[in-house]
Amino acid sequence: MTTERAERDTVAFEIRDGVAWVKFNRPEKRNCMSPKLNRQMLRVIEDLEFRDDVGVLVLSGEGTAWSAGMDLKEYFRESEAQGLRGVRHSQREAYAWWERLRWYQKVTIAMVNGWCFGGGYGPLFACDLAFCSDDAQFGLSEINWGILPGGGATKVATELMPMRKAMYHALLGENLVGQDAAAAGLVNESVPADMLEARVHEVAQNLLKKNLRALKATKDAVRRVREMTYDNAEDYLIRGQEALNWHDGSEGRLEGMKQFLDEKTYKPGLGEYDKSKAAG
Ligand code: COA
Repeated sequence: MTTERAERDTVAFEIRDGVAWVKFNRPEKRNCMSPKLNRQMLRVIEDLEFRDDVGVLVLSGEGTAWSAGMDLKEYFRESEAQGLRGVRHSQREAYAWWERLRWYQKVTIAMVNGWCFGGGYGPLFACDLAFCSDDAQFGLSEINWGILPGGGATKVATELMPMRKAMYHALLGENLVGQDAAAAGLVNESVPADMLEARVHEVAQNLLKKNLRALKATKDAVRRVREMTYDNAEDYLIRGQEALNWHDGSEGRLEGMKQFLDEKTYKPGLGEYDKSKAAG
């Protein structure tokens, strides 16, 4: 018998080199998402969101899983035993932190170190970038236990994969392993397990060299324009840039122009401006 893990212990995190390394922390349950974990995750990511020492958030899993999806016992069976009110309550707790991550102030990276099933596709999609180990396995296992891929998982599959691949993935309940998941579009890259953290660290450090306000404006733009007509997107991007001009206290774009045009110290086509020389 394993003892019940306290709510505060269902998520672990540490901050290193400007990066918040957040972990699903129920390895004994393959990091499946219980109501406790969902509540704690929202608390943790809320606390980290506006910290000055956090520029990028990485979400990974302790042990052999990234996340085995929703907890069939605590999220499904026990919530259903409480009737509709219990079900809706548990859904809202889960969806709340996935939504918070989708529009998070900092760039987010899913570092998928193992199993990723069903409800796990919610946070997978919520993260802006995703990297996995070659031995990670991704599956819409819902069909294997008699439900449809809910909690946004069907939407995630169709957002990230072409229709035929998404349909096969959802209907057959077969897993995609790392390289195949990358080829299908579920993650940016798959790398050998022993290189995963180093690769994610490298990407995070490269992101940290950029203007963080511009990163936030850019990640929101990529998510928003996908659902817009061309004209609406064009207009949104004008408003987005003008809002960025207002919010970017460092006047980053002016510094970027100056370093390229006047000081000739860098080329935007080959890398970023030195933001340490910018104001604010
Ligand atoms: N919900 C509830 N419990 C889960 C779980 C989930 N989604 N995933 C794993 N667990 C529990 C197991 O019941 C087991 O608990 P126990 O030790 O009390 O018996 C423990 O976690 C370890 O799981 P186990 O199946 O022994 O690990 P494994 O490494 O052999 O297999 C998986 C890993 C992920 C393949 C397997 O656990 C699994 O199929 N999980 C369900 C995945 C799923 O369908 N998720 C979608 C939900 S929407």
